[in-house]
Amino acid sequence: MKEWKNWIVCLLLIGLTAFLWSCVAVREEGVSSITPVTSEEAVRAEKAAGVAVGKAENVYKLDIKALDTVDCARCHYSVFTDIKDNGGKHQLECRKCHERFHTYKPGTPWEDVVPKCTTCHGEIHGKDFLDCMACHTDAHMPISTMINIEALSKDCAGCHVDQATEVVKFPSAHTDTACSECHHSSHGYIPACTECHPEPHTPYQNNTVCEGCHPVHSPLQIAYGEEIDNGLCAGCHGEITKTLLESPKKHSTVKCVDCHAQKHRFIPKCQKCHSAPHSESLLQKFGSCADCHGDPHALALMEK
Ligand code: HEC
Ligand code: HEC
Ligand code: HEC
Ligand code: HEC
Ligand code: HEC
Ligand code: HEC
Ligand code: HEC
Ligand code: HEC
Ligand code: HEC
Ligand code: HEC
Ligand code: HEC
Ligand code: HEC
Repeated sequence: MKEWKNWIVCLLLIGLTAFLWSCVAVREEGVSSITPVTSEEAVRAEKAAGVAVGKAENVYKLDIKALDTVDCARCHYSVFTDIKDNGGKHQLECRKCHERFHTYKPGTPWEDVVPKCTTCHGEIHGKDFLDCMACHTDAHMPISTMINIEALSKDCAGCHVDQATEVVKFPSAHTDTACSECHHSSHGYIPACTECHPEPHTPYQNNTVCEGCHPVHSPLQIAYGEEIDNGLCAGCHGEITKTLLESPKKHSTVKCVDCHAQKHRFIPKCQKCHSAPHSESLLQKFGSCADCHGDPHALALMEK
């Protein structure tokens, strides 16, 4: 009876030992299952398992890349869209300009925090134009935001010497009109003549037609090319135009500007086109061609 009891105790001890041993084995297996892996491996494994990348990896093992323009854009969305839509040649990487950023502390002068235009551009317009932001009012859109006409207008003549000289050299009502009265709204704005001359003497089609006769910065220096149509003269010289066009003579096929070439009020010599139509002796008897041919627009031979 005593031996039977000893056997039972012995078996229980063996069972307990086996159980404890198996527990330790499970523990060790658990430890080996979270052995660190390199980040590339983790990302690959996660992608294969369809897990969102980064969720399960050990972030402190990652190499951190510097922020790029897309990263900046996530927070500075409006700056990004400004540059995207209107930045022009300033479509550069943010960090090309902002070598340092997020360094602002209250009390630090703003100029020490943001990039300086002159670092890249130098004194591009010379010593008189150093307050860049007065005209280029937004650093991210330096051309499209040049609408501060007041700041610009102090210096139109400094950059546009030709136009400024022309308006002074040829006095007209436009000499007394400020550059910025015509070029208003934004830098480079070109006005239509009809903004100020709503009912011009010639039907308005576009500035080019008007400027065919009036150089805009010296509008009284009327000069024109061969393309000017008779109808444009007719607005002011209706009678003569009518006479010419209704005449049966061949001058009716000649344009006003063929005879009155290039300059308003120029009077041509008949000999310019008709070198020697009659004998010397005939011409010597008469003072001028008009004595016999009369009005050049009608060419009626005078009764003699
Ligand atoms: C997580 C969001 C976030 C990201 C990403 C971020 N910024 Fe900022 N940034 C801010 C906040 C917030 C301010 C302070 C408020 C403000 O001026 O809009 C700021 C301020 C700035 C300023 C103002 C001046 C200064 O330096 O403090 C500049 C310039 C700037 N960021 C540039 C950048 C650039 C360049 C990048 C990318 C390389 C970038 N930021 C990425 C949130 C961010
Ligand atoms: C060509 C150079 C240049 C580039 C490119 C540039 N910046 Fe700037 N940025 C500046 C300058 C100069 C200022 C200071 C403007 C001022 O004084 O008002 C500035 C100001 C800022 C400011 C603070 C004032 C504001 O407008 O909110 C932020 C934020 C900023 N930049 C973010 C960016 C981000 C983001 C990018 C890229 C998407 C970027 N910048 C690209 C030159 C640049
Ligand atoms: C990190 C260098 C850098 C800084 C700082 C910088 N720019 Fe520029 N900027 C450029 C480059 C590069 C161009 C393109 C030049 C080219 O292609 O001819 C440019 C072009 C321009 C243009 C012509 C834009 C166009 O679309 O035609 C203007 C105007 C200009 N910058 C003004 C400024 C002003 C004003 C500042 C300061 C607020 C400034 N820039 C700061 C690099 C810079
Ligand atoms: C008085 C106004 C004014 C000031 C001040 C000014 N600019 Fe300009 N800037 C202009 C105008 C106007 C243009 C011509 C814009 C155009 O091409 O339509 C221009 C053109 C530019 C261009 C493009 C040049 C090119 O040839 O394409 C750059 C770059 C530039 N400015 C940089 C600067 C910098 C940098 C400063 C400060 C040192 C500055 N500007 C100061 C008015 C100004
Ligand atoms: C800092 C120099 C500078 C200043 C100041 C300046 N401009 Fe300009 N402007 C330029 C340059 C450079 C161009 C040539 C741009 C081009 O060829 O695309 C230009 C172009 C123009 C154009 C022609 C646009 C076109 O479509 O051909 C007009 C008009 C003009 N400027 C008027 C003005 C007036 C008016 C002022 C004063 C309110 C002024 N500018 C001030 C430099 C300047
Ligand atoms: C009466 C209106 C008017 C006035 C005043 C005026 N402009 Fe103009 N300007 C124009 C028009 C219209 C054009 C377009 C000419 C064209 O189509 O060729 C022009 C063109 C320009 C151009 C482009 C180049 C050219 O000659 O075509 C510049 C630069 C310019 N003006 C500068 C100036 C400056 C600087 C002043 C002041 C000294 C000035 N303008 C005064 C109407 C005016
Ligand atoms: C911003 C207004 C304005 C614009 C734009 C304008 N002018 Fe004028 N112009 C005037 C004023 C003001 C006068 C003097 C009063 C008048 O004759 O209406 C004048 C007078 C003239 C004169 C007579 C000059 C003199 O000294 O008697 C001619 C010619 C002329 N403009 C042609 C043009 C042409 C062509 C255009 C377009 C290319 C144009 N103007 C655009 C304001 C303007
Ligand atoms: C065929 C040439 C020609 C064309 C085109 C032309 N003009 Fe004239 N314009 C003249 C002549 C010539 C004068 C008168 C000059 C004189 O009195 O000596 C004049 C005078 C003017 C005057 C001074 C006031 C007046 O009516 O006498 C204005 C303003 C004027 N033109 C505006 C315009 C406008 C705006 C356009 C375009 C719609 C235009 N012109 C097209 C030749 C032309
Ligand atoms: C806006 C009105 C206007 C327009 C348009 C116009 N003229 Fe005139 N023209 C005049 C005026 C005003 C005179 C001076 C009349 C006078 O002194 O009696 C004149 C005078 C003349 C003279 C006479 C010069 C002289 O010394 O006797 C000729 C020639 C002339 N114009 C040709 C033309 C031609 C050609 C065109 C078209 C290309 C034209 N004109 C367009 C208004 C205009
Ligand atoms: C074949 C050449 C010729 C053609 C074509 C011509 N002219 Fe003339 N025109 C002249 C000559 C020559 C004179 C000078 C007559 C004189 O001194 O009596 C003149 C004089 C004028 C005069 C000033 C004298 C006056 O009678 O008032 C005006 C105005 C004039 N022409 C307008 C025009 C117009 C407008 C046209 C087009 C419809 C035109 N001319 C076509 C040759 C021409
Ligand atoms: C711009 C050139 C030009 C000028 C200036 C010019 N004419 Fe003519 N003329 C012509 C042409 C072209 C013809 C037609 C020739 C032909 O078809 O054989 C012509 C024809 C004539 C004829 C013949 C008309 C006919 O119907 O057979 C006479 C006469 C004449 N011209 C006289 C003059 C007189 C007089 C003057 C000066 C007041 C003058 N011309 C100035 C170009 C001109
Ligand atoms: C004594 C009068 C007289 C004078 C002066 C005169 N002509 Fe004529 N001309 C005529 C007659 C007549 C004809 C032939 C009839 C006709 O064609 O109408 C004629 C014909 C012409 C013709 C046409 C020739 C042809 O072959 O068809 C031209 C061109 C001409 N004249 C030009 C001139 C010029 C230019 C002058 C001034 C240098 C001038 N005439 C002076 C009387 C004159």
